[in-house]
Amino acid sequence: MNIENLLKKTITSSQYRAITILGEQFDRLGIRAFLVGGTVRDILLGKSITDIDVVLEADPQDITSKFDPKYKVEVHSVSQFGTCKIILSDQTIDLAMARKEVYPSPGELPVVEHASFEDDLARRDFSINAFAAGINSQDWCELIDFDNGLADLESKQIRVLYSKSFQDDPTRIFRVLRYSGRLGFDIEKRTKKYMIEGLRLISLLSGVRLTNEIRKIFSEENSGAILRSLDQYEVMSYAHESFPNGADLTKRRDLLQSLQIDPHNRDFYAFVSLISSLERHNAIERLNLGNEFMKFGSDLGKIELLEEKVSRSELHDQLKQISEIAILVAGTYVSRKIKSNLDLFLQELNKIDLLIDGQDLIGLGVPEGPRVGDELSKTLSYMIESGPLSKPEQLIVAKKFI
Ligand code: CTP
Repeated sequence: MNIENLLKKTITSSQYRAITILGEQFDRLGIRAFLVGGTVRDILLGKSITDIDVVLEADPQDITSKFDPKYKVEVHSVSQFGTCKIILSDQTIDLAMARKEVYPSPGELPVVEHASFEDDLARRDFSINAFAAGINSQDWCELIDFDNGLADLESKQIRVLYSKSFQDDPTRIFRVLRYSGRLGFDIEKRTKKYMIEGLRLISLLSGVRLTNEIRKIFSEENSGAILRSLDQYEVMSYAHESFPNGADLTKRRDLLQSLQIDPHNRDFYAFVSLISSLERHNAIERLNLGNEFMKFGSDLGKIELLEEKVSRSELHDQLKQISEIAILVAGTYVSRKIKSNLDLFLQELNKIDLLIDGQDLIGLGVPEGPRVGDELSKTLSYMIESGPLSKPEQLIVAKKFI
């Protein structure tokens, strides 16, 4: 089957140009090259594509230096797996060497070896991701359907290429549920059985790989349904016993939508906020989220311990070291009274500033040394109880304390 017509219908003219230039250049160099994976899957589904993935039977690392110099190619990054990102004709393209993968043990990253193009298709996750289409002139747009992926696209099902697929790479459990939710496809019967057998291996995935998969689900248009589908197999609890279920996570993410916080991390703030305070440290470590999240987690714990009845200065004292993000996030689920205390802190108490400084107090006769700081904080506490004051008023208050 030749997919040129489909290709022309689904991709932009600039993408088409980039692919034809690549084909021409690989012809010149005598290298076989193919569009692969999700790129071909999406073309077959008639969807527009964002990534152009190309596999070569050669090492891509310095291949572009051999291109005709009239084409400007920027090489962006080179990875440990012999892949490299280039920009050609305004398009980002992932070039990868055809490879075999050997998994030393479940959950670990594979050891990669040069291989034939057919081996490269055989190592892939699902039949609907194991398509290729030639870009050299002799097989331009000829579809290679490694394992009946077309039939699976038609019957709307996701099927692994081999029974150990989830064992080799348990991230594929997240992937199969993500594609199933995105495309509205069923998981083929045996694939489901292999997936269920592989669930216990999720615990072997590194934090970085786990976070990466969860983040990819967050960025799906249909993420709520995908997260809920994880619950059916208790996927999150296989990753860590404290992780929240997808249904709760979806609700908490919705609550955080309207907050003015970094959207890249917002969903993980929702995630961490659902974990019990005793388990947060371990869970953040499990996800490898780093120090900023550790502080966030411990800040949430402190907010959750706040009493409903506190004086303004006690409230200020308890919250002054807490990050604004933690206060905003906790505000979505604490009691109404605590929420109004959090608002009071953010909208009023936190904005009360001392306009006098140490020099002013020394001018009033306070000897240099630790007493200067003590006297300044007395004035600040006074204002926190009474409300903000102008600089002359603050000087009067400070004088009273001396
Ligand atoms: N792949 C795999 N096993 C994985 C990850 C990726 O076999 N654990 C293969 C699949 O063939 C996939 C290709 O590598 O199509 C590229 O991976 P990725 O960019 O993650 O997926 P896409 O298919 O491009 O999907 P998406 O639309 O989500 O980007």
